[in-house]
Amino acid sequence: MGKSRINIAIDGHSSAGKSTLAKSLAKELNYVYIDTGAMYRAAALHAMRERSVMDAVVNEVGLRAGLDRMFLAFRYNPQTEQSEIHLNGVNVEKEIRSMEVASKVSLVARVPEVRQKLVAIQRRMAEAGGVVMDGRDIGTVVLPNAELKVFMTADPETRAYRRLNEMRENGKDVSYDEVLENVLERDRIDSARSVAPLRQAEDAVVVDNSDLTVEEQFNFLVSLARTRMEEDA
Ligand code: DC
Repeated sequence: MGKSRINIAIDGHSSAGKSTLAKSLAKELNYVYIDTGAMYRAAALHAMRERSVMDAVVNEVGLRAGLDRMFLAFRYNPQTEQSEIHLNGVNVEKEIRSMEVASKVSLVARVPEVRQKLVAIQRRMAEAGGVVMDGRDIGTVVLPNAELKVFMTADPETRAYRRLNEMRENGKDVSYDEVLENVLERDRIDSARSVAPLRQAEDAVVVDNSDLTVEEQFNFLVSLARTRMEEDA
């Protein structure tokens, strides 16, 4: 019996380790990894550049008008061996990981027109199957028919430590308290927004990885994915 190319949706809290796992899963299965958080971050960067988000204030009229000038694409970088996000033809993969973008992204991500535009792109990318897509609303809104849905979480302190280490490795000078505050704030905004809030799909498999190694999670998900592929074939 052959195996079909299924779609895998990975949702969960920020810094729950979604992207690490989604990337390695995609590599193992020879699937395409799509980082939807990078798309929302690039949208926030675009809005910041156009000055339609300043401090904690969003100019929604300006933001909506600016969406027609925003072109997002993933392009493979052979040096990093990753697909990286491009905003209007320029690689912004590094720039979107700054604290400044992190502090604005939830504000931009709750604007319905932003979500409509990005969800349409995400669905097109998954049309042929064979994607591992991570985000907040993949199993609930973007790909409700995904063959495998995973909801990942961990306690906020664990997630803040992970994000802190990641940022320090990238040379960013931030404090633990600052990162924890940002993690909690993003949880609050992401879960409370009226459009596509972060919530677990009813048919998602929950992975709380506060006490799991990356390898344990990886092995678990690979076997789960292979079972679904067999079932679907
Ligand atoms: O996964 P991340 O931390 O890079 O995501 C950045 C922000 O984008 C996060 O605050 C929530 C938002 N986001 C979203 O609203 N919907 C998604 N599908 C992915 C991310």
